[in-house]
Amino acid sequence: MTAALLPPLLAQAESFLGLFYRENRLDGLDDRLNAVQKEVARTGQYTLSNDELTHGARVAWRNSARCVGRLPWPALAVRDLRQVTRPDEIFGHLLTHLHEALNDGHIRPVISVFGPGVRIHNPQLIRYAGYVQPGGEIIGDPATVALTAHLCRLGWKGGSGTRFDVLPLAIESAGSIHLYELPAHAVREVALTHPEIPALGALGLKWHVLPVISDMSLEIGGQVFACAPFNGWYLGTEIAARNLADTERYHQLPEVAQALGLDTSRSRSLWQDRALVELNVAVLHSFDAAGIRISDHHAVTRQFVRFEHQEARAGRAVRGRWSWLVPPLSPATTPVWHRQYVDGDESPRFMHGQDVWADLQETARCPFH
Ligand code: ARG
Repeated sequence: MTAALLPPLLAQAESFLGLFYRENRLDGLDDRLNAVQKEVARTGQYTLSNDELTHGARVAWRNSARCVGRLPWPALAVRDLRQVTRPDEIFGHLLTHLHEALNDGHIRPVISVFGPGVRIHNPQLIRYAGYVQPGGEIIGDPATVALTAHLCRLGWKGGSGTRFDVLPLAIESAGSIHLYELPAHAVREVALTHPEIPALGALGLKWHVLPVISDMSLEIGGQVFACAPFNGWYLGTEIAARNLADTERYHQLPEVAQALGLDTSRSRSLWQDRALVELNVAVLHSFDAAGIRISDHHAVTRQFVRFEHQEARAGRAVRGRWSWLVPPLSPATTPVWHRQYVDGDESPRFMHGQDVWADLQETARCPFH
């Protein structure tokens, strides 16, 4: 959404504060609106209270049409870091975020809202590098090739060259960009094993346990926070049916099928489908064994239907994008397959900008190890 399409700041402030006072059954909306009007007249901006920010961030999650895991939206922990704009401090707070979110495996949804003029170039705090080799082959995650090149151009020397090298963070503040390597203790990972098939464990696959989206802006009452990384916990299919399985990502189904001893010469043997199921079993099993919170697609979709009922009782419409809500594995076995959703974008919201590096002319390649 471009700024020109948005109503003026005061109208957006009124609409959000109306929602905040209504949903929390508070008195004093008129006084608050008067104060905001004066502040906007004087400064062109207004300041959300800590409670307003907290509620706004939770409602932005509640409004996320693509998210199937919205039931626990009131439990989002909101870290008010609007005074923080110095890169070193931001990085320190990001480490604390990762620690508090991990919570010894009982992963908590957390958002950290930073001050103006700050953005993080990485789409997630934890991502694996994608290195293009001279022959065109990619080591690591093909989804991060452009990001990896961008970070190299910013001065990163590259990692050790494995399929799972954690990328450094590029934190931009007041126009200058700083790179930070995440220490190993900040990045919890789970190595994949299968409860019955040791050969699957021998493939050396793993994934990091925290998905922390760091390239979406948070908009509340017309105010936009460009640096507001947030996390939930993984849904098994995100890792097993997409990140590790997609042909444009880690493309591991042929290896998994081989570990299972399947006939991969004919697609009609359904080797891809069988490999996919066992890879999903492996991810859920491995996270469970490691004591790390993870959802499965059956439970999370049932919870989503509960969320819909809960919202209906509260008199609110749920927006949803069907193609994102249905899981990529056994979709028709889950209740969302059989339901219809109206997509839409309501405020407060999370918004996507353009990739930071998309408009930069970059040719740098990471040194291959
Ligand atoms: N699909 C993304 C990934 O695999 C994560 C998106 C957010 N997921 C979540 N469970 N909060 O990394």
